[in-house]
Amino acid sequence: MPKCIIDGREVEFTPGQNLIDVAKSAGIEIPFFCYHPGLSVVAQCRMCAVEIEKFPKLQTACSTPATEGMVVKTQSDKVKQNQKSVMEFLLINHPLDCPVCDKSGECDLQDQSYGYGSAYMRTSEERRTYVDLDMGPVIQKNMNRCIHCTRCIRFGDEVAGIREMVAIQRGNNTEITTIDGKQLQTEYAGNYADICPTGSLTLKDFRFKKRAWFLKKTPTICEGCSRGCSLELQHEANVIYRCIARENKEVNKHWICDEGRFNYHYVQESDRITEPAVKQGTALQMSAWKQAVLSAREAVAGKKVAVLVGSDLTQEEAAMVQQFAKSKLASAPVFHFGTPGVESAKDDDAADSLLKRKSKTANLHGMEKLGIAPFTAMPSGVHAAIVFRGGRAQLPTLAVSTRIGVGVFKRSESLEFEAVLPGTAFAEKDGTIVNFMGMEQRLKRAIAAPRECKSLSEILMMWTNL
Ligand code: SF4
Ligand code: SF4
Ligand code: FES
Repeated sequence: MPKCIIDGREVEFTPGQNLIDVAKSAGIEIPFFCYHPGLSVVAQCRMCAVEIEKFPKLQTACSTPATEGMVVKTQSDKVKQNQKSVMEFLLINHPLDCPVCDKSGECDLQDQSYGYGSAYMRTSEERRTYVDLDMGPVIQKNMNRCIHCTRCIRFGDEVAGIREMVAIQRGNNTEITTIDGKQLQTEYAGNYADICPTGSLTLKDFRFKKRAWFLKKTPTICEGCSRGCSLELQHEANVIYRCIARENKEVNKHWICDEGRFNYHYVQESDRITEPAVKQGTALQMSAWKQAVLSAREAVAGKKVAVLVGSDLTQEEAAMVQQFAKSKLASAPVFHFGTPGVESAKDDDAADSLLKRKSKTANLHGMEKLGIAPFTAMPSGVHAAIVFRGGRAQLPTLAVSTRIGVGVFKRSESLEFEAVLPGTAFAEKDGTIVNFMGMEQRLKRAIAAPRECKSLSEILMMWTNL
């Protein structure tokens, strides 16, 4: 591999890599704002300028590829003076908003002001202010904080495939806004908040709910469709507050869709059944676990049973259910369900030109790997169904007289069931899911399951041993 010298250290690089990334690989930080590894390089903030031997002027590291033998200095007086000047320039119009800004604690501008700026301002003029437009349900705009890095404009143009953010006016009056002041149209709008290096574009859904430094972070996988994007659940005291994209070059690069970003809400909705429930008359009544399991077992006793597995279950869970059906339910047939119209992997296709897939459950392809057949109709002679679901799979119509639900169900859909045994949702368990490319990826448990909910293995153990 070719090598260059950064701050006196020999560093290997891949041809084409820019100096920011090469330095980063050696643990050397070059500060930047406008650069983003998923977007084109515009070299306009000048924060990343470094000294390169034989170049008379500083060069922007984001737009300079490393070359064999290049000698780079990131800590010289000239570099430090430039960083101070850029920070002073960027902060001339920036409000002293950190105490009331949602980005505080995870803001590039705040961090770099502390690390590379000056403690004093030489200006006393009033800051420029803007009236903010409504950008729709996902993003809150506060342009007083904008540093004109244009990442948002490039994201719309280059990734979301929709030119909706633009810079209007020029010079001191420059304003980033939407074309004609319209609301954002893209179904990937949450990424604007992920990439904005300041608090100019923040998530409405997260605003003022929790300070960033209180959040614990769990890297996991999205269960919103069969792509299985990498994401991070951010939570505290068993409450999820936010979900953001996590880089995965092969699956989702740096992005996630809004459906996947906000999917976690159902996990903590008040409508979710979190205690065992048994039908009494026409209504479901909360019950003790033992009583509920006994009632469920009794309801299917002596009947020919079919087992339905949501394709939102993990591989481990689905395999456990297969084994359970074989050994405890007289080899009852097992089928998977999930997205109407996408019965099997061959029906699963791209749902847009970026990430979304037609299968609205994450593990459709894993079900087929386990040899589970898709559910199309109830086999003749079957009068009872046990339905296992992770939370996202859409319930099919079940032409049987007895139904038992195991897993995540809403009160509003539970009346069909004789008993519901509440289980865990994707954020509450570890496990493997297989995406449409056949990649096995790991779900990680972020929070504890609420109230009386139990893991599938605990529920099946009770069913077997009571
Ligand atoms: S709104 Fe944010 S991402 Fe867009 S130009 Fe301003 S600082 Fe950059
Ligand atoms: S594209 Fe699919 S897997 Fe990716 S974030 Fe959206 S719903 Fe989740
Ligand atoms: S990151 Fe290089 S000029 Fe902005």
